[in-house]
Amino acid sequence: MLTIDVVLTADRVVADRLAGATALVIDVLRASTTMITALGHGAACILPVGDLDEARRRAADLGHGALLAGERGGDAPPGFDLGNSPLEFTRERVAGRTIVMTTSNGTRALAAARGAAAVGVAALVNAAAATAWAHGHGGDIVLICSGELGQPSLEDSVCAGLLAGRLARALPDAVLTPAAEEARALAEGYAKDVSRLAQDAPHARSLERKGRAQDLAVCLALDASAVVPTRLPGVDKLVWRPR
Ligand code: MLT
Repeated sequence: MLTIDVVLTADRVVADRLAGATALVIDVLRASTTMITALGHGAACILPVGDLDEARRRAADLGHGALLAGERGGDAPPGFDLGNSPLEFTRERVAGRTIVMTTSNGTRALAAARGAAAVGVAALVNAAAATAWAHGHGGDIVLICSGELGQPSLEDSVCAGLLAGRLARALPDAVLTPAAEEARALAEGYAKDVSRLAQDAPHARSLERKGRAQDLAVCLALDASAVVPTRLPGVDKLVWRPR
């Protein structure tokens, strides 16, 4: 029987449970949203990388065509071309470019998802498109929240719950695990207005304090994008191939 599961942080992913499954990796604020934006604006691909040194090395190996992007503590590390705000990833800046990206939580969650048969990137902005992509694959579906430094984050849990609810409607024979049921119930409280997360989610409030309220408006725009970044089989490379 097909199951839909939710894992609340990257650390809690059990690799064996991913075999044969489809995974959606969620980091609403902001890595997933930024990847979706970058590929939507024509970036050639994104190479998600775990640590800063490796990211710098990979970008240097690739040479001029590559952009080095990401954050630590929310800001672009020294020498990076771009941070982790979706607003920076304009068409002018990223079209045709390979982006080497490392973030505190989102790229770690992507690494944790490696064992899945298919991996896509989800956020609130592409919830409808990510739902359609995941249920088109068959097999169990695991919704992996990036969380925040090992702890669950409200915005990722709500996004996972919203996706679980939509997937359950699209796949009436699927069974939600208790964790997925719990996330779905949590998401119901936000179904009418996900923008409430701007007040309720601690990471949203900290972005606001840093003067990044405009990022929140982008990241909390439900179903605004048809882009689903997907990992190429066997390679840590995210691309978007419109159907
Ligand atoms: C992350 O991957 O940890 C986040 O996207 C952090 C951020 O908001 O920049």
